[in-house]
Amino acid sequence: MSQKLNNFYKKYFSELAFSLAKLNKFTTGANPSVGCVVTNLTNDIISVGITSINGRPHAEHNALSRLTSNTKKRIFVTMEPCSHFGKTPPCSRIIKKKKVKEVYYSYIDTNPIVNGNGINQLKEKKILVSRINSSDKNFYKEYDYSVKSKFPYVTSKLALTKNFSTILNGKKYFTNNQSLKFAHLLRYMNDSILVGKNTFLKDIPKLDCRLSGLEKFSPNIFVINPDLSIRAKHYNLYKKKITIFHASNDLSKIKKYKNYFNLIKLKKLENLIDVSSILKIIYTHGCRRLLIEGGLKTLECFKNKKYINKYHFIFSNLTSINSKLSAKQLISSLAVNRLSRYKQSINLLNDKLFSF
Ligand SMILES: NC(=O)c1ccc[n+]([C@@H]2O[C@H](COP(=O)([O-])OP(=O)(O)OC[C@H]3O[C@@H](n4cnc5c(N)ncnc54)[C@H](OP(=O)(O)O)[C@@H]3O)[C@@H](O)[C@H]2O)c1
Repeated sequence: MSQKLNNFYKKYFSELAFSLAKLNKFTTGANPSVGCVVTNLTNDIISVGITSINGRPHAEHNALSRLTSNTKKRIFVTMEPCSHFGKTPPCSRIIKKKKVKEVYYSYIDTNPIVNGNGINQLKEKKILVSRINSSDKNFYKEYDYSVKSKFPYVTSKLALTKNFSTILNGKKYFTNNQSLKFAHLLRYMNDSILVGKNTFLKDIPKLDCRLSGLEKFSPNIFVINPDLSIRAKHYNLYKKKITIFHASNDLSKIKKYKNYFNLIKLKKLENLIDVSSILKIIYTHGCRRLLIEGGLKTLECFKNKKYINKYHFIFSNLTSINSKLSAKQLISSLAVNRLSRYKQSINLLNDKLFSF
């Protein structure tokens, strides 16, 4: 086979591995979603694998475990195979055992316990290892950020009226159904969600993902509620115990509410709970992507400390009168000169999405 054709196949299998990794991108817990394509040495695909839901077994294991060790193989993986003993043995072991002779990977795992060690281990086992650059440069952006910072990657979503108000006549929703679906998609794409006290009290939000078939991927819920203001309606609203960050010294409230919620007490400094402590705790709960759904005051706390990685603003075509909560200043302070530059092509009918 000509070198040109061989290279074409390699690029094709590598891109196919990314298509596979996309399938589980938001469901592999703290582990990155990896795709793996296994071929023989004459370019026939003989197996594929993806990182399992919740992160284990890994893609290489899923792809190779069903194969015999009789024939020589190549694998194409989106990220270098792991090299360490965690809850499962390193993937380099099954790669060697199943007679894989060549490994093609696209990303180095930035997790310090791997970070090139997977590649070195394979080379030590006399396996040919080669990198294939991916056309998707941002595939592991959120993973890389959380591995390095030990914070979850933070996305915010805020709905606005035409005149930048985040509320409209006390209505819980003022964007259309299509926008609501997008909001639920974001809940699926993030493993944690956070709101402030006023949103918690006024909206009594369920904060789960209600897209058919994706309900089980609803995010873990966190609320900032300094004085533990809670309504009886909240007691049994949530399927799993939600976590409330507070700063209250009221022992009777703490005693009562700890039956319903995980309570985490944090100190206030200049009347605010330090949001970096909140992010660290959310990370230690195993969460790697946090969605902040508001309200505006809570969003501002995170924005002021520069902890928001991605903003989504959904504009409805309605106008609010006497808006107290205007996000205009927040958006201008983000140094976004012309918001129109960030308009997304996603179809939200008469609503508009701006993301950056
Ligand atoms: N348009 C949208 O997308 C959207 C989204 C969510 C909510 N909403 C609407 O917005 C309204 C609520 O928004 P909001 O801005 O008034 O309130 P909010 O952000 O929901 O809650 C703010 C309150 O949470 C507490 N809090 C937040 N961060 C804190 C921190 N770092 N440290 C200490 N306390 C912190 C404070 O409580 P204390 O006052 O006790 O200090 C603060 O006043 C509701 O009407 C809701 O329906 C709209």
